[in-house]
Amino acid sequence: MSKILITGGTGFVGYHLAKKLAEGKNEIVLVDNFFRSELDEDMKQLLERPNVKLIQADLGNRDAWDSFESGYDYVYHLAGINGTRLFYEIPFEVLSVGITITFYAIKWFRTTNNNPNAKILYTSSNEAYAGALEAFGQLPLPTPEDVPLVISDPYNPRWSYAGQKLIGELLFIHGSKAHNFRMSIVRPHNFYGPREGYEHVIPEIIERIKKRVDPFPIYGADDTRSFCYIDDAVEAIIAVMESEKTDGGTYHIGTTEETKIKHLIEHLFKIMKWEPSKLDIKNSPKGSVKRRLPHVLKIKEHTGWEAKITLEEGLKKMIEWYETNPRKKRKNG
Ligand SMILES: NC(=O)c1ccc[n+]([C@@H]2O[C@H](COP(=O)([O-])OP(=O)(O)OC[C@H]3O[C@@H](n4cnc5c(N)ncnc54)[C@H](O)[C@@H]3O)[C@@H](O)[C@H]2O)c1
Repeated sequence: MSKILITGGTGFVGYHLAKKLAEGKNEIVLVDNFFRSELDEDMKQLLERPNVKLIQADLGNRDAWDSFESGYDYVYHLAGINGTRLFYEIPFEVLSVGITITFYAIKWFRTTNNNPNAKILYTSSNEAYAGALEAFGQLPLPTPEDVPLVISDPYNPRWSYAGQKLIGELLFIHGSKAHNFRMSIVRPHNFYGPREGYEHVIPEIIERIKKRVDPFPIYGADDTRSFCYIDDAVEAIIAVMESEKTDGGTYHIGTTEETKIKHLIEHLFKIMKWEPSKLDIKNSPKGSVKRRLPHVLKIKEHTGWEAKITLEEGLKKMIEWYETNPRKKRKNG
């Protein structure tokens, strides 16, 4: 049995991670301020389990950390402002919240938590290196973990998110060396699945198909992404956390399948049994990355993990959830 803290625990990844970890005898505490998540039916059901507890707190407030218990074995630090629209609308908050709470997380972990064997995991992002493609016109594909981390244009608000992830990685690397604590960093690559929110590429396409939008808009039809189903993703996160081999390292989590946005949409048309009469091909937003495909050999070598769920299977499960949970008004996507 382990005592586990998950920051950002009611968000997309936090919820699925907590659900998986709660299957065992672990004692799980979720912390969130509901900036971008909700106490919905799924979350309420999870909180009915006797081994899952929720603390509603703003982690940008130093006093909140002081009120937490000590002695956690594993701390998953997921909290932060996510969501592309918000990077453009509130870049300063994206930066200041991300940097502040990560600094507080490290400080609390190495002092108040007071457990010398404990480990903390930081969720960075593929966005931390994505700027290299725009800046230098190329990135090795598949992209390994040790490429330079690049902000290609500090004046484009989109890079606020990448900026705070880059600083977060530095805080974890040098904090753990200076203060001798166990940590790993993961870079998620396009996780998708039920309860992801509504302002993401796949939920938005599902919604447009349900509304029979025709002509059907496609943004960045030839851009590529590596989509990783959330059940695979949480297994990867847990595998990195629980392995000693991964201590001090950075790991890409994703699939080896590079999917063009237009092919993703074709899959969805097929599964949802509808096709528009005409496609309306549009450019992707400025700063959006053209190609993304992670190297995932390091995580396989160190933990044995690799993605199992095919895009087709994952999309089917996701559509099922979105069919029964249509968009409600949500504060921040
Ligand atoms: N989902 C992906 O594909 C993906 C890709 C790259 C990186 N990530 C990173 O993984 C982590 C989890 O992602 P997610 O998709 O679950 O995002 P999410 O937005 O669903 O979850 C983040 C949670 O953090 C909470 N939060 C924000 N500010 C807070 C604060 N001040 N105090 C307490 N809680 C606060 C939000 O309310 C939200 O519930 C994030 O750090 C994200 O940047 C995710």
